[in-house]
Amino acid sequence: MTVHALYIGGRFVEATSSRTLDVIDPATQEVIARVPDASEADVSAAVAAARRAFDAGPWREVTAQERGRILFRLAEAVRRRAAELADLETRNCGKPIVEAEFDIADVATCFEYYGGLATKVHGDVIPVPDNAMSLALREPAGVAGQIIPWNYPLLMAAWKLAPAICAGCTMVIKPAEQTPLTLLALAREFEAAGLPPGVVNVVTGLGQPAGAAIVSHPEVDLVAFTGSAETGRTVLRTAADGIKKVSLELGGKSPNIFFADADFEAAVDGALFGVFVNQGEVCSAGSRVLVERSVYPRLLEAMVEKARRITLGPGLDRRVKMGPLVSREQFDRVRGYQELGKREAKLAVGGGRATGAGLDAGLFVEPTIFYDVDHGARIAREEIFGPVACVMPFDDE
Ligand code: NAI
Ligand code: MG
Repeated sequence: MTVHALYIGGRFVEATSSRTLDVIDPATQEVIARVPDASEADVSAAVAAARRAFDAGPWREVTAQERGRILFRLAEAVRRRAAELADLETRNCGKPIVEAEFDIADVATCFEYYGGLATKVHGDVIPVPDNAMSLALREPAGVAGQIIPWNYPLLMAAWKLAPAICAGCTMVIKPAEQTPLTLLALAREFEAAGLPPGVVNVVTGLGQPAGAAIVSHPEVDLVAFTGSAETGRTVLRTAADGIKKVSLELGGKSPNIFFADADFEAAVDGALFGVFVNQGEVCSAGSRVLVERSVYPRLLEAMVEKARRITLGPGLDRRVKMGPLVSREQFDRVRGYQELGKREAKLAVGGGRATGAGLDAGLFVEPTIFYDVDHGARIAREEIFGPVACVMPFDDE
């Protein structure tokens, strides 16, 4: 059993906190690793390392060209280790291996994108009257606190790391407690890629205390958060006390709208992909399927027909199209909405835990479609973050 350490100041270090968190494989619920549940003191050590690297370290003198090269080296490292990282991602968060491979390729692409951008961040000369000159310069914000969710663990991390490295910030990043493993694996590449110590620090732990300590730390200049709207509100409130810059990527209840003249097969596949990809654990999942009334029965029937044939199982099996949900907590939450939906609307398919060979030990739920859902129903209004679709008719634009 691997027991991981924190990555602070360019080294893997023991946490001062003696608490650890079990990391599971949601396909079996077996514990596959342990990580520190970092304390406030651990977060302070990470912030201090990031602060030093920003204020006094060599990072300020590292040119934009070199920051770009660092990002390209990270991309190369990800591509070199792509198979291993995809395997680890699937084992830790459950998603089908084909989807994990896509994510990891996207991680590399993200580093490359910002590698190219590093030399193209520049300011403006603003025309002003009289004997004056006005220049707008773009400078790094300082120490960035970055909080990552569990649905696209390494990709969401890359979306925060790459732009901050590109801009010349230093950072403290916390992966979700459920899915820390791929980011810890990537941290092994930071030094070889040329990142000076302290530029990127990885702290594992819970939202409380570790996440909250990052957000409230007075020496963190900027907070970038992806996760639930509920936690996002807390982050924004806390950041206000320190007048920090904040970016939030939160949840949704996105509609996909199908008119009668749409390409029918593409509409069916699009609707299913929209709500079932990544087990529906997607902030932009097409969880409300709005269908023009004249094609409503036919489209619903075709969706149900195909939903029944989705292969569930452990994501490492290449035939699998839908893996388990990430955690017991998320499983219970989605099961709760399945039961609520049976009271609020009509059930077309699914509606329960998925059982059978290879499924019973894991956190599998059936792809579920409710129909004739009232727009006011809770299942139509609240983010479920699982494979649950609400299909409803409409009459006109
Ligand atoms: P969450 O928003 O609580 O957790 C996301 C991240 O924030 C994790 O790294 C967590 O440790 C951290 N966090 C939690 N509390 C914090 C705090 N007080 N201060 C700072 N960081 C904190 O999401 P959770 O509880 O895992 O999932 C609940 C629901 O949130 C899901 O069912 C889903 O609806 C939504 N969600 C949305 C995501 C998205 O991509 N937009 C991703 C994950 C969840
Ligand atoms: Mg939470």
